[in-house]
Amino acid sequence: MLVPKTLLLFFFLFVVFLSGSSTSPLDGKVQEETSNNPIVIIPGCMGSKLEVKLTDHKKKHWWCSSNKDWFLLWINVEIFIPELIECAGDYMQLEWDGKAIQYQQGIDYRLVPGLEGIQYLQPTLWFVEKYFHKMIEEFKNEGYQEGRDLFGLPYDFRMGPNNLTTWFKEVKSYIETAYNINDKKVNVITHSMGGKLFNYFMAQEEITKEWKETYVSKWIPIAPAWGGAFETIEELIWGMNFGDILVKKSKFKPFEISFPMSYYLLPIENVDWADPIIITPQKNYMATLPDYLEMMNALDLPQFSKDLVNTQWKQMNIIDPPMVPTYILYGEKVDTNCQVEYSDYIGSDNYKINTCTGDGTVSAKTVVALCEDWEDDHFVLCEGYKDKEHVSIVEDDEIINRVKELIKIP
Ligand SMILES: *[C@@H]1O[C@H](CO)[C@@H](O)[C@H](O)[C@H]1NC(C)=O
Repeated sequence: MLVPKTLLLFFFLFVVFLSGSSTSPLDGKVQEETSNNPIVIIPGCMGSKLEVKLTDHKKKHWWCSSNKDWFLLWINVEIFIPELIECAGDYMQLEWDGKAIQYQQGIDYRLVPGLEGIQYLQPTLWFVEKYFHKMIEEFKNEGYQEGRDLFGLPYDFRMGPNNLTTWFKEVKSYIETAYNINDKKVNVITHSMGGKLFNYFMAQEEITKEWKETYVSKWIPIAPAWGGAFETIEELIWGMNFGDILVKKSKFKPFEISFPMSYYLLPIENVDWADPIIITPQKNYMATLPDYLEMMNALDLPQFSKDLVNTQWKQMNIIDPPMVPTYILYGEKVDTNCQVEYSDYIGSDNYKINTCTGDGTVSAKTVVALCEDWEDDHFVLCEGYKDKEHVSIVEDDEIINRVKELIKIP
């Protein structure tokens, strides 16, 4: 998952379907005139708040709940406490039914809609810092108003694009609405997995050249994860604990490997991932589908892992040029895990992790690869920022000021 090496955790915000009635942008009363180009923000993986409701859920541990009214599951400090992680992990877990990913019986999900759903400010949680909070405040200081010229689009980050079709429709309708209210083209700001999903959205047939020219002024991907992130490999091997020192990684693994997202964000050879992901004396595993399937066998991952990577592979390899002016801001010169090297065999305890330059999560070369590929087709500006980390980059003053400059470009 796209989480930094520091104790910054940030999380899952799921966007389960926003209930159409209360959150439709069309409900917004038309407010006074504005001279701003509207902004739509799409957060990264784990960057949307998810609520959950339990109804006769078959709990996996006696100390967890079967029935509970709506409560905030992600992000919530309780997840990171031993014992409670096992409940939260169970509530978060998805199920593969042999053909498709499903929610568990007795668990309903919903997203916290709008900007509230994509920002955190929880100073009481020592390991959770801010996410998109300062940037949104700065936009508001400049006169932006939610529902008029500023929108946040949370989504169920556990899912891959196959299961986000309803949300993609919302992305389209929010952009059109933002345009219609303001009579100005829209600036889209994405972070991390949000960038990969938005790029997928822009490659869909119904998102025509005319649609793009009409509605989108520019796209600002921050720390885009379109080449995937090595952390998904760590998740599949050990589980990822988001820097939570209280809870073992292995407690996170069962639910993390049930998320289509964990496969959608695997590194892909297609985006310049030419070096092996895993090195063993017997075999080097490359960022290709056959090698991932073989790796999953070798690591004794369940059959559904192979099913999930198979269902994501086509979608995760779509990297078409978006055909709108694109301003890419990314972090570099932070040590970023990018390879596991086993001295005896895959899955053993004798390994070391090799690093590349990047933002601590996303390897810089995968970002740059598409900067170069897309340049032939349309305007692309690519700016690397030294020592900016994957998550804190969206709260960084230098980056926020740069974003504010960029959105003023007509
Ligand atoms: C995910 O998508 C598949 C294929 O469209 C569908 O069968 C399945 O029910 C979806 N799962 C969820 C949880 O929406």
